[in-house]
Formats: sequence, C-alpha cells, structure tokens
Amino acid sequence: MRGSKRGSLVFEWKTTFKNVVVLTGAGISAESGVATFRDNGGLWAEHRIEDVATPDAFAMNPVLVQDFYNKRRAQLKEVEPNAGHRALTRLQQELDGNVTIITQNVDDLHERSGSHDIIHMHGELRKVRCRACATVHQWQEDCFQETACPTCGRQVVLRPHIVWFGEMPFYMDLITQKLQVCDLFISVGTSGNVYPAAGFVTHVQQVGHAHTIEINLESSEGVSYFAEARHGRAGDLLPALIDEILSVKVA
Ligand code: APR
Repeated sequence: MRGSKRGSLVFEWKTTFKNVVVLTGAGISAESGVATFRDNGGLWAEHRIEDVATPDAFAMNPVLVQDFYNKRRAQLKEVEPNAGHRALTRLQQELDGNVTIITQNVDDLHERSGSHDIIHMHGELRKVRCRACATVHQWQEDCFQETACPTCGRQVVLRPHIVWFGEMPFYMDLITQKLQVCDLFISVGTSGNVYPAAGFVTHVQQVGHAHTIEINLESSEGVSYFAEARHGRAGDLLPALIDEILSVKVA
C-alpha cells in the first residue's frame, strides 16, 4: 500500500474521483528556483511583511513595494515550470473528471505548464490594477509610481494585483463552490500558516466525503487534518501520485 501509515483507498481511485481540487503553495515552485516565504532564506527572511506586503506598506513606501514586486516579476523570465507543475497538467488532461487548481502562488508557472482552471486566490505578479478605474492590466515589465494607467491615463494609481496581508483573497465564492463538491483534495507545497487556504482541508471534510492528501517537504501546520501525508519534494512525489490516480492499482 502506498502512502503513509494513514493508508488510502488506492484501488478505488480511478473510478471515484470526479472533482479533484489541488491547493498549491510556494513549495511547488521551489524546484523551479522561486523562493518560498518561510523556509530558510525565504522571502520573509529577507523582507519584512510590514514593509512590502500590506496596504500600509504601499501607502508609506510605494517605491519599495513596487521594486519588491518588479524584481519578482522579472525573475519569472528566468524560471520554468517543473515536474510538479507538469504532473498536475497531466492529471487535468487525462483524468475523466474535473481538476481545479487553487493556488496561493502569484507566479505563472501553472499556466506555462499548460494547466487550466487555475484560481489565483492571492493575485498574479503579471497583472497590475488601477486604483482609480479598477482596471486590471496584464503586465510583463516593471511598474513605477509614475507609470500611467493604460485605460484612464492617470499616474500614481497602479498597484501590484496581489492580495496583501489584511486584504480579502480573490474568488472566495468560486473556491467555496469547488470545495463543496470536491471528492479528492490534494495540498501541495504549503506550510499551512495562512488562512483561509490553511482551512480548506477541514472545510472539505465538514461538507463532504473527500479524500485528503498532503504533499510537502515536511509536515505542515495542518498535517493532522489530512487522511494521508507524503513528505518529500513535490517534483518527485506528485508525478508518482498522479500515476496512481490515473492507473488502477490493486493494493
Ligand atoms: N516540494 C514540496 N514542498 C516544498 C518544497 C518542495 N520542493 N520546498 C519547500 N516546500 C514546502 C516547505 O516545507 C513549506 O512547508 O513548501 C512550504 C512553503 O511554505 P511557505 O513558504 O509558508 O509558503 P506558502 O504556504 O505558499 O505561503 C502561503 O503566505 O506569505 C504568504 O501570500 C503568501 O501565498 C503565500 C502564503
């Protein structure tokens, strides 16, 4: 039997799962060279959240905040999707059912891996939003305070289209709908420190009968809520898990 001591219903997988929800965090992009937040040398070891990731930070020092996101946006040109991203794309292509990716990540590696049905609950680095006309723009290059909004033409109005601490995540109604009908919930590369994402596993258990699996380098804060936990690199464990889900294996 694969998986941890908590076991799993391996032999029923292929026939049962029609609505898979995969929650991803920074750990799935780590093997692509994108820093996580809370690991050694992570972003929050280098930067103070209150300096770069709150509305107050942007009000107090917009140049510092724009620079922080400009650098992360520029890095996207140097990184590529990894085996973890590609495994999820394969699941979407081959499973006879729905696979929704809810990501806390603001990078575009799921899209570049060929995935669809991606919900960016914390926003996207390759978008900026106008605080005057509320238009959201696709954005590849740096954005500065003097950069004019392409729609309303005003300056000192564009901000990163990112959910900062103290702000509501995006698409929560759609996310709740997906969790409501989910029959397999897989959490990948997230430490389980940030809500509401960290509460999705208990939500799917309360509302339904979903099987729940944690894939992470180490135990997350919420590991005890999962029916099954597999610890190691997502780039190794996810392709193996997807093989299991897509192929009938008798335990
Ligand atoms: N494979 C699997 N897991 C990994 C890997 C890997 N190669 N590398 C690191 N991890 C795990 C770490 O062990 C850690 O538990 O990924 C997790 C990353 O945790 P965080 O850095 O806390 O990132 P995340 O959970 O995505 O953060 C949530 O917090 O800072 C905010 O808005 C930001 O979306 C972010 C949210």
